[in-house]
Amino acid sequence: MFKRIEKESFYYGFPVVLMTTKDTTSDKDNITVISSTWTLGRTIVVGLGLANKGFLNLIVGKEATFNIADANIWEKIEQIAKTTGNENIPDYKKKAGYTYCPDKFKLGGLTKTRGIDISCVRIKECPIQIETIITEITIRADFAIVECEMKGIFVDEKILHDDSHIDVNKWFPLIYKFREYSSTNGSLGVNFRFQEYKK
Ligand SMILES: Cc1cc2nc3c(=O)[nH]c(=O)nc-3n(C[C@H](O)[C@H](O)[C@H](O)COP(=O)(O)O)c2cc1C
Repeated sequence: MFKRIEKESFYYGFPVVLMTTKDTTSDKDNITVISSTWTLGRTIVVGLGLANKGFLNLIVGKEATFNIADANIWEKIEQIAKTTGNENIPDYKKKAGYTYCPDKFKLGGLTKTRGIDISCVRIKECPIQIETIITEITIRADFAIVECEMKGIFVDEKILHDDSHIDVNKWFPLIYKFREYSSTNGSLGVNFRFQEYKK
């Protein structure tokens, strides 16, 4: 038996990504915790709230780095979750208890590493970092759909099998499943297009 359920929004879960952007006026780096992303080829598509500092930064700077979170850092992420880098906090966020945070790296205990192909910094604690430039922005009623083109992919050697393959037994992405943090520590099997390394 299946039951129809009614919800205002239905969020079934995606990997957690820390999007780093730069305010080109103040030169300040910001972290936006996101999870509404998907990739196709070398394009990343992301859904962003219009008042998010990350969005305000990328419409000017036209760059963003996607730091894919490892399951180990979920508590650091929760530490910065109820903050924004936008000094003008929108009312709905104020009501929800969000506060302004000018330095989420400090608050979350996360380490900045310089960007390679773009100016946004990378986050050392995230084993996969993807530098992108913004190619398309579509504004909807209360969010934007942002398309980004990958410029550089940087992977921590600790999860690499060789120069171009990730050892999936060493990679445990953080999944935000119905707003609960979880991970992928049990393999069910691999897809026929699997191209990485597995013992
Ligand atoms: C796990 C997690 C996933 C989130 N995913 C998104 C998302 O995909 N898009 C978005 O706009 N906000 C998302 N948020 C909310 C933003 O992180 C939040 O609005 C934050 O204040 C934005 O920071 P900023 O204003 O400094 O950019 C998510 C929050 C958490 C904790």
